[in-house]
Amino acid sequence: MKILAIETSCDETSSAIVEDGKIILSNIISSSLALHSKTGGIIPEVAAREQVKYIIPVINKVLHQSQVQFKENISAIAVTIGPGLNGSLLIGVETAKTISYACKIPLIPVNHVLAHIYANWLNTDKLPQFPSIALVVSGGHTELFLITSHNKIKWLGGTLDDAAGEAFDKTARLLKLGYPGGPAIAAAAAQYQKSIRQLSDKYKKEIKLPRPMIGSNKLEFSFSGFKTAVLREVNKLKETKQFNNLVIQQLSFEIQEAITDVLVKKTLMAAKLHQVKSILLGGGVSANQRLTEKFKLEICNLKSKISLHIPNPSLCTDNAAYIASYAFFHFHPKSWNTIQTEPNLSVEV
Ligand code: KG4
Ligand code: ZN
Repeated sequence: MKILAIETSCDETSSAIVEDGKIILSNIISSSLALHSKTGGIIPEVAAREQVKYIIPVINKVLHQSQVQFKENISAIAVTIGPGLNGSLLIGVETAKTISYACKIPLIPVNHVLAHIYANWLNTDKLPQFPSIALVVSGGHTELFLITSHNKIKWLGGTLDDAAGEAFDKTARLLKLGYPGGPAIAAAAAQYQKSIRQLSDKYKKEIKLPRPMIGSNKLEFSFSGFKTAVLREVNKLKETKQFNNLVIQQLSFEIQEAITDVLVKKTLMAAKLHQVKSILLGGGVSANQRLTEKFKLEICNLKSKISLHIPNPSLCTDNAAYIASYAFFHFHPKSWNTIQTEPNLSVEV
């Protein structure tokens, strides 16, 4: 079964055709990121205006690339209805509704956050075994789920304030590293690791950031105080005129260490509690290589048989392929005239 999906929840305009929830025939992502990196964050109206321009060319490109005949071969249209920016969601949802009505193709509304998990079913031989713990870490979400079957996904906990991606983005802004912050912090941290091999200890500052809620036995996260702790550190370093490139790289390293420590600790806590067979990651932050390294190491230390699933970095960030996969495993079409955008759609299932 071939599903055509549309994803426009944030700054991306993406469409994909996926077969049987697993094989990507085509996945096109057009991003307005370059426009937003100039302003240090997403301006919703700018994002939506770009999406109006790109939605039809992106769908046409997907059809052309996959060589799929629209009316004969597409079994359903899947579309992100939320959570996300309303102006952006509207572009995808109205396009999907129009196609569904005009071509009489079933329409499946999809929750973007839950769908992130399904990147783990795409283009892989190693399919996840249930029960699983899924960690979705993106710009707006840090959520833990227990999955016992495709139809039984239970929300276990999430962030009380800022998301992990937001913590990367906001601290990167404090360090003037640009947007999106996650890849920028990761690059500066890697640079620090490279430099310290060549430098003597006198160049290394004592920088230690908090690991918020790491000692609590609740499956909750909190990153808003973390950003304040980084700001305090930045101000201190500026006062003593020690705020230079090397210090920015060292701070980036410590930011990445602190955030990834918390994510790994809480996810493993949930995995042990529910004695799962697999851990699944999804969302932009799961593209972080240090996070992968730490999960591999900690799971190895546990000497358990938990299998770790992390999508290819290009499938971690927003794209329509995992929207199609989610729709295949949750095939619940709705009539086009009952579907609308839900910017605050809950993840607490
Ligand atoms: O899933 P996503 O593409 O969009 C949302 O649904 O939010 O995630 C975007 C987030 C941003 O906060 C970005 O800084 C973060 O993912 N991110 C990363 C990395 N790549 C993207 N964070 C850490 N390390 C990365 N390599
Ligand atoms: Zn996302």
